[in-house]
Amino acid sequence: MFTEDKILVGVTAEGKRLFLNPRMANRHGLIAGATGTGKTVTLKVLAESFSDMGVPVFLADVKGDVSGMCQPGDATEKMTQRLTQLGVSNFSFHACPVRFWDVYAKHGIPVRTTISEMGPMLLSRLLELTQVQEGVLNLVFKIADDEGKYLIDWKDLRSMLIYIGNRNQEYTLKYGNITKQSVGAIQRALLQVETAGGEMFFGEPDLQLEDWIQCTSDGRGYVNILHAVELYRKPVLYATFLLWMLGELFERLPETGDLDKPKMVFFFDEAHLLFTDAPKVLVQKVEQVVRLIRSKGVGVFFISQKPSDIPDSVLAQLGNRIQHALRAYTPAEQKSLKSAASSFRKNPAFDTETAISELGTGEAVVSFLDEKGRPEIVEMAKILPPATYLGEADEKLRMELTRNNPFFRRYSQTVDRYSAYEMIGSESDPAAEEEARHQEEMRRVKPSQQDYDYDYDYAPTPRPRIPSGQRQMPQMPRSKQPPAPKSAPTSKKAPEPKETPAKRGRPKKTTSEKVTDSVIRTLGKCLERTLLGILKKK
Ligand SMILES: Nc1ncnc2c1ncn2[C@@H]1O[C@H](COP(=O)(O)OP(=O)(O)OP(=O)(O)O)[C@@H](O)[C@H]1O
Ligand SMILES: [Mg+2]
Repeated sequence: MFTEDKILVGVTAEGKRLFLNPRMANRHGLIAGATGTGKTVTLKVLAESFSDMGVPVFLADVKGDVSGMCQPGDATEKMTQRLTQLGVSNFSFHACPVRFWDVYAKHGIPVRTTISEMGPMLLSRLLELTQVQEGVLNLVFKIADDEGKYLIDWKDLRSMLIYIGNRNQEYTLKYGNITKQSVGAIQRALLQVETAGGEMFFGEPDLQLEDWIQCTSDGRGYVNILHAVELYRKPVLYATFLLWMLGELFERLPETGDLDKPKMVFFFDEAHLLFTDAPKVLVQKVEQVVRLIRSKGVGVFFISQKPSDIPDSVLAQLGNRIQHALRAYTPAEQKSLKSAASSFRKNPAFDTETAISELGTGEAVVSFLDEKGRPEIVEMAKILPPATYLGEADEKLRMELTRNNPFFRRYSQTVDRYSAYEMIGSESDPAAEEEARHQEEMRRVKPSQQDYDYDYDYAPTPRPRIPSGQRQMPQMPRSKQPPAPKSAPTSKKAPEPKETPAKRGRPKKTTSEKVTDSVIRTLGKCLERTLLGILKKK
């Protein structure tokens, strides 16, 4: 709860109120605890307060239960009792200004980036490439750069790989070893990600992160919620997305030094996924970004079950800590509990380790940074209830908020620029170049299929519906389909499958036609029987 220019997070049994100082929010934070102990509610309490004080927020909603932030919370008896117990009187249940985003463009405004923005390092992680293959991917980017071939969407990368694979000896002389085997392995990896729907994330218009750093006209920070329920099922894609975002913020935002309140706060739920099987160099990069992004006024909060899920080098940068209960049954869990407890400044009034193991739901041991950036002594507290709705948002409201958002139209219409795919195509058929450019112009003016591909009954205008059995993912517009073998230019459309009468639908027959058909069928059967009889007699 935002009050007295600070964030009231919890209250101890003795009535001491624990505040997070917004000046210290760019020193990052950690919310940890076993499942069901109150991490998501704590995340909401913080996110609501940042929004109320005019700080935009980003959070990934992996279970769908964060979406309720667009509705006011229920003042149930349990909640009001909790507030009375905590001695909080000026509490108001209210909704936050929420913008929903979704990589799959189903539950929010589409989010995309380009292949070149993602870069070879993160793409290698997404494609789970070996070191040698990563080296080749680096060269693919270098060659594309040198030859002015833009890598924007998935088909650009695919056709670039085919192109280089076909000329590997030529390029090996100039750039170093590019084997057909490595190119083939990268292509197979591309196919796997494509099958998992990962290609949806690449294209234009790509997300301008400034669009997330916005406030409402009455000065409240927008809460940008990424619908990550599906994305989370593909952990590598989820992790890559979050890492890309962090990197983008780091590169794009100017230095600001320490501010009275952060410019933006990011909450990374299920943060352990960022680091599972991550190569050392990537962990080093995250550590570096987290360290340096502080001076750009960005606060990052990691949410995970155990602090030990997060590499020490990153953990060391998380100054504000809220630790919910940890249960320790196995030796590994006991070790985790010990290390979680030891990271707090001791409070002589209680033993931190015992406290963490005995905390109830919605309780935590807490330590924030003081004015001078020093960790305060650990306290045991009950966390405030959320001001917003605890649970999933009403689906109609979510869609209404999405469709009425000015960004919806902008990001829904995909643009397929003249890039590597088209360039390679027109090189093999120069006459097609002009046509490819024309096609590009046409696509710019036409609405994309994604515009019509929402799975909801709620729609302000009627739109074509696809049978739900066939609809697993929003369909890609024609321009998004993978290139034909041998890099065919876009202008050369793949031949349409010939329409069979069954597909086209036969015109209905008249009664006399039906009678004639039946007579012919009967005569045919008689003739068949007679012939069979003759043959048998023989
Ligand atoms: N601060 C709180 N005030 C009121 N109720 C709370 C609070 N914290 C937790 N709860 C209750 O506990 C439930 C579980 O909390 P929450 O969903 O935040 O747990 P979690 O740690 O995020 O679980 P998971 O790991 O499964 O995501 C909530 O639905 C709510 O009923
Ligand atoms: Mg949760």
